[in-house]
Amino acid sequence: MLLSLVALWTPAITAAIHYLLVGTFSTNSIYTLSFDDETNQLTGLANMSTPVGSSWLTLSKDKRTLYGTAWDVQPAAFVSYAVEDEGLTLTHQATVLAGGGCTGSAIFVLSAADPPYTVYGNLYYRDARCGTVFSTDPSTGALVGGGGGDTGIVQNYTYELPGSAVHGMTWSPAIANVVYSADTGGNAIWTHSRDKDTGALTPVDKLVLPVDEQGGHCGPRHIAVHRQGLYMYVVCEASSKIIQLWLDSDEFMTPHATDNEWPLLRSGDDAADFWADEVLMSASGDFMWASNRARDSSRQGYVSVFALRFDGEVAAQMFLQETATSGGFANAIAPSPFDDRVAALTENVTGSVEIWRMADDNQSASVVAHLDIPDGGGCCANVVWYS
Ligand SMILES: *[C@@H]1O[C@H](CO)[C@@H](O)[C@H](O)[C@H]1NC(C)=O
Ligand SMILES: *[C@@H]1O[C@H](CO)[C@@H](O)[C@H](O)[C@H]1NC(C)=O
Ligand SMILES: *[C@@H]1O[C@H](CO)[C@@H](O)[C@H](O)[C@H]1NC(C)=O
Ligand SMILES: *[C@@H]1O[C@H](CO)[C@@H](O)[C@H](O)[C@H]1NC(C)=O
Repeated sequence: MLLSLVALWTPAITAAIHYLLVGTFSTNSIYTLSFDDETNQLTGLANMSTPVGSSWLTLSKDKRTLYGTAWDVQPAAFVSYAVEDEGLTLTHQATVLAGGGCTGSAIFVLSAADPPYTVYGNLYYRDARCGTVFSTDPSTGALVGGGGGDTGIVQNYTYELPGSAVHGMTWSPAIANVVYSADTGGNAIWTHSRDKDTGALTPVDKLVLPVDEQGGHCGPRHIAVHRQGLYMYVVCEASSKIIQLWLDSDEFMTPHATDNEWPLLRSGDDAADFWADEVLMSASGDFMWASNRARDSSRQGYVSVFALRFDGEVAAQMFLQETATSGGFANAIAPSPFDDRVAALTENVTGSVEIWRMADDNQSASVVAHLDIPDGGGCCANVVWYS
C-alpha cells in the first residue's frame, strides 16, 4: 500500500530542470544546456567534440540514441551517438554514408516511432532525389555500417519530381507506419507507407502544391500534423506562409489542398527576402509554433504562434514577432515537450539559443532566457529537448 502511494505521488512532482541538445552547422560540437522553468535560467553545461557538424539532430523514441546529419561532409553521411547522463555524455557510434549515388548533402534525419527502429535520411542541394532507410542495432540504436563490409542500408529510394529535394519528414500521429515528406524542390508533399517488418517505404501519394498567379511556389520545408489527424500544416520556404491541408479518411490519410493560409511576413515584406523555416505542434497540440528567417543578416526574422481548435483547425494566428537576428541558417523554433507556452529558438548569426514564453493572454511572447554560444558561425542549428 505504501509503495503504491509513492508510485502515485511521483508523477505529481514536476521537474523544473530540462535538458536540451544543440547542434551546429560547420563546427564540430554538440552543446548540452539546462533550462530551469521556474527561474528561467538557461545554462551551458557541456561542449562535446564531434566528428562532424549536424544541421539537424533528432532523438530515438527511447532517447538513448541521437541521430544527426553530417551536413558539411561529402559524400553525404549520417551519424549516431549513444546518449547518457541526460545528454551530458555523447559517445559517437557510427558515421554511415547515404545510399543511392546522389550528390546532395545530408539535411534531415527522422527516427521511426515503431519497430523496427529504422532511420530515414534526406538530402538537399545538387542532386538530392535520394532517400535512405538505415537499419539500427537493436541493443544500442546505432546506425549500422560505416566500417566497410556489410552495409546496413535497408533501402535506397528516390523522390521523382523535377528538382526533388526533401527537407523534412513527419510521421502521421494518427496512424502507424505512414510518413509524409516535404519536397521543397518538387513543391510537393509525399505520402509513403512503411513496411512494419523491414522499415522500407512505398510511395502511395504525391500532392503537388498549387502555384499562385504570379508563379509563386510554396517550397514546402517542414510539416506538422495535428494529433487528431484531420489537418496538416506546411511551412512554405519560398512564399513564407503556413498553408493548411486536410487529410483524407482513406487508408493512408493522404493530404489535399485547402485555400487556408497565413503569412509569416508583415505587410510590405517581400517573400523573396525570407526563407521560412519551421512549423511544429506545441506539447498538447493546442498551439502551433512557426518561424521565418531573413536572407540578409542585417534583417530580422519572425516567430508566430497559432491557436488551434480541438479538431486542429486554426482558431487564430495569435502574433508574429520579430526575432533578434535574421536567424542566419536557423531561426529554428522548437516547442518544449512540457509547456505549450515555452519554445527554444536557435540562430547562427551571433550564435545563440533563446527560450521564448507565451504571455498568459496568448497574444504575445517574450524572450525569457538567452545564451550566447559563439563558436564562429557554426552554432546554433536546431535544439532537441531531451526532457
Ligand atoms: C544503397 O546504395 C548504396 C550506395 O549507392 C549501395 O552500396 C547499397 O548496396 C544500396 N543498398 C540497397 C539495399 O539497395
Ligand atoms: C490561452 O490559451 C489557453 C489554452 O488554450 C486557454 O485556456 C486560454 O483561455 C487562452 N487565453 C485567452 C485569454 O484566450
Ligand atoms: C567548443 O569546443 C571547441 C573545441 O573543442 C571550440 O572550438 C569551440 O569554440 C567551443 N565552443 C564554445 C562556444 O566555446
Ligand atoms: C550560418 O551557417 C551557415 C551554414 O554553415 C553559414 O554559411 C553561415 O555563414 C553561418 N552564419 C554566420 C553568420 O556565420
